[in-house]
Amino acid sequence: MLKNNKKKLIIVSLLSCIISVSIFSFTNKQQGPVKFKNLKVLPQDISDEDLDKVMDGFKAALGVKCGFCHAPSKENPKKLDMASDDNPRKDITREMMRMTQEMNMKYISKIPHADTVKLQMLTCNTCHRGATKPFGEPLVKPKQ
Ligand code: HEC
Ligand code: HEC
Repeated sequence: MLKNNKKKLIIVSLLSCIISVSIFSFTNKQQGPVKFKNLKVLPQDISDEDLDKVMDGFKAALGVKCGFCHAPSKENPKKLDMASDDNPRKDITREMMRMTQEMNMKYISKIPHADTVKLQMLTCNTCHRGATKPFGEPLVKPKQ
């Protein structure tokens, strides 16, 4: 079981894929009973609502649909099997989640003004910006 603070930080930095939230103003939403089958990074007792926000955040940050990371169901290939790990992008994503988390915990939250201002945490979107591969070039042209 994750320590409470770490758990908060994980949800916050993942939710902030869509909205920027401060780690200091975040309060835990009521968590639901465990119903997801195969969570290895997210908290086991994450609510439906928070899980949906995280998944929608991934979708927007990478500019993809759910099937980019989730494999089709074996029984009904028209549907996705969300708990299956057959699509390798799911494990890549788990590594990306751990990486983003570690960068936030080790570096971003330790910058000197971290306790006085609302931090802009690092999110999937910071790098991806609506693309599966982050752009190699600056998005904003330098001023002349
Ligand atoms: C960028 C990749 C990515 C996208 C896009 C994505 N997911 Fe996920 N999804 C994951 C990963 C990774 C996990 C497992 C997280 C973990 O291990 O903690 C997951 C887990 C889930 C689960 C939990 C399944 C279980 O029982 O364990 C559901 C439900 C889910 N996703 C739904 C969706 C829906 C609906 C969409 C589209 C709106 C979506 N996902 C889009 C990567 C993605
Ligand atoms: C520090 C920058 C950075 C952050 C933050 C980041 N990524 Fe990535 N991501 C990359 C790079 C670089 C690649 C490799 C692109 C390539 O294949 O050339 C990548 C690749 C991926 C891929 C594989 C794409 C493919 O084409 O198969 C997925 C999926 C992904 N990231 C999801 C995420 C998600 C979800 C998050 C947030 C939890 C995230 N990333 C956060 C930099 C980042």
